[in-house]
Amino acid sequence: MMQKDNFMIKILSEQDADLLRACAELCRDCIPDSWSYESFLSEVRRENGLVIAGLHEQNQVVGFLTASYVCDTADLTNIAVNPKFRQQGIAFLLLKFLLQELEKSGARTVFLEVRRSNQPAIRLYEKSGFVSVGIRKNFYQHPDEDAILMQYGESIC
Ligand SMILES: CC(C)(COP(=O)(O)OP(=O)(O)OC[C@H]1O[C@@H](n2cnc3c(N)ncnc32)[C@H](O)[C@@H]1OP(=O)(O)O)[C@@H](O)C(=O)NCCC(=O)NCCS
Repeated sequence: MMQKDNFMIKILSEQDADLLRACAELCRDCIPDSWSYESFLSEVRRENGLVIAGLHEQNQVVGFLTASYVCDTADLTNIAVNPKFRQQGIAFLLLKFLLQELEKSGARTVFLEVRRSNQPAIRLYEKSGFVSVGIRKNFYQHPDEDAILMQYGESIC
């Protein structure tokens, strides 16, 4: 857990049902093809799944991310911040926290996909140390779009 002023970061568990529901609602509002509450629940139940929430005043979910890892490789699968709380550094803090947690777990490389048009997210990832390593043609639907594959950490090539 990380705490600063009225903001704290928490790794969620199965016991945090209300916070997981709030993550699912935020996800629905911010990300096309979003995860349901059940998807969030199954992520925290998995041994190598992570749901990390940014909380305002201890209990309001203002941002979250999800990630999973196998051996030394991790995937960032979702990240979103409530529009009212954007551009205040919340996503950057969540990502920094994740990278520290993954390092403790032995992950050396993190991958993610991002829509080619999603400049706010691409800039966030670049600021956090990710670099573009490829394109996945027509990876997304609704609407159809290429994904940029980005990588953080040691090269596995
Ligand atoms: C992408 C997103 C998570 C960023 O959250 P945020 O809390 O506003 O980001 P931060 O305030 O931590 O910004 C960190 C960096 O990201 C970049 N960034 C964030 N918002 C940006 C914007 N609107 N335009 C350009 N760059 C932006 C900047 O480089 C910023 O650093 P700076 O403030 O030093 O310039 C947020 O816009 C969001 O929830 N988008 C919808 C969901 C989404 O697209 N998720 C990613 C794909 S799953």
